[in-house]
Amino acid sequence: MARKMGPWRKTTIRSCGEEMGKCVEKKFGKITIAIDGPAGSGKSTVAKRVAAALGILYLDTGAMYRAVTLKALRAGLPLDDEAALTKLAASTVLEFKQTTDGAYHLFMDGEDVSAEIRMAPVTKAVSAVSAVPGVREVLVKQQQRIGRQGGVVMDGRDIGTVVLPQADLKIFLTASLGERAHRRWLELCTKGCTVTKDEVEEDLKRRDAFDAGRAVAPLKPAADSVTLDTTALSIEEVVERILKLSSSFCSEQEG
Ligand code: DC
Repeated sequence: MARKMGPWRKTTIRSCGEEMGKCVEKKFGKITIAIDGPAGSGKSTVAKRVAAALGILYLDTGAMYRAVTLKALRAGLPLDDEAALTKLAASTVLEFKQTTDGAYHLFMDGEDVSAEIRMAPVTKAVSAVSAVPGVREVLVKQQQRIGRQGGVVMDGRDIGTVVLPQADLKIFLTASLGERAHRRWLELCTKGCTVTKDEVEEDLKRRDAFDAGRAVAPLKPAADSVTLDTTALSIEEVVERILKLSSSFCSEQEG
């Protein structure tokens, strides 16, 4: 996957204090941060903000599985045809681009699919597609190629356990099912409420069970990850905690 992002932002991390300035320049450019957790735990919102604050890349691995799922649905592929799904993943060109306002767009074979991959048909089918070992192999390789360059915050389900087991910092975000459903429902409602909160909760429960129960790279915290329960925390508080952990990592490296 080509890495076509805007120029890296200049890094200023107020929460780290002025003394961090030197460290930020030297270390944060290469830091790798893995953020895993169940659907609706706030991973992507938090990961995006952390990446922006540190001036490093953000990679949404869930979007990659969603794009392959969209392509499979469009092609009418049966979701249990592992060979065909793997071939499809291997022949798909995925590219992330960041617009000047900071928004991330995912291009699949040159087409901006950022909106369509969030729609219900893809959300419904993505767990099945992402459980196919061959699909995972193709996408994990691409994610690892980007991870090796350093300077990245990656979010997903298996980043700390499989994709970047050597990540400098591993975070596992959780929140109660009710809170996650509430957040996801609010998010969906900004685009027009077409589902009830109960339906959203059922969908999250189904996806959690599927993602955590699959044979390959199931959703689970890495042994050396820091678990943050975000049920009663604001986005800012979660971001602040991760930035502090990044600072501690940085200080240890300097020390
Ligand atoms: O984070 P998300 O809801 O956009 O992810 C979509 C699906 O992709 C989700 O059901 C689990 C799967 N996924 C995965 O298996 N591994 C990842 N690293 C990221 C997402």
